[in-house]
Amino acid sequence: MERTFIAIKPDAVQRGLIGTIIQRFEAKGYKLVGMKFMNVSRELAEQHYASLSDKPFFPGLVDFITSSPVVAMAWEGDGVVTGARKIIGATSPAAADLGTIRGDFGVTVGRNLIHGSDAIETAERELGLWFKEGELTDWSPVATAWLYE
Ligand code: RTP
Ligand code: MG
Repeated sequence: MERTFIAIKPDAVQRGLIGTIIQRFEAKGYKLVGMKFMNVSRELAEQHYASLSDKPFFPGLVDFITSSPVVAMAWEGDGVVTGARKIIGATSPAAADLGTIRGDFGVTVGRNLIHGSDAIETAERELGLWFKEGELTDWSPVATAWLYE
């Protein structure tokens, strides 16, 4: 089953939106298989955002993501990579549709509340970066039979 990496960023943690954000993934029917509340080292931040290292906003992005704790999560489900990106919304909250997390709770791109892997291969790379072997927990929610034919 497909898995994706989701991180609740420092702005959402500071604004008391952890529960609200997790609720959207839970209510959708995705399965939580990993979660930790943690400070992010500069090394991890730079590795995570390596593909953006030549962007002008990269230093500010690394400063931001390391400034305060984040909630790192692994979610599982049919089509979860694309589905989670839909729940999250467009990168800029100004462009994100209402009903998405960024559209409902954000105002500017540099404080867009949440990260979600953008492709299956990216998700595998990011899950490997953020979680150690054994930190992901497989389990069988009773609701599975009512979510999948
Ligand atoms: P994410 O990786 O966080 O889920 O966001 P994304 O795919 O929608 O956007 P991406 O292009 O991967 O950018 C990563 C994060 O960099 C910050 N950003 N700032 N100031 C800017 O123009 C700008 N552009 C991007 C955002 O925090 C974005 O989520
Ligand atoms: Mg991205």
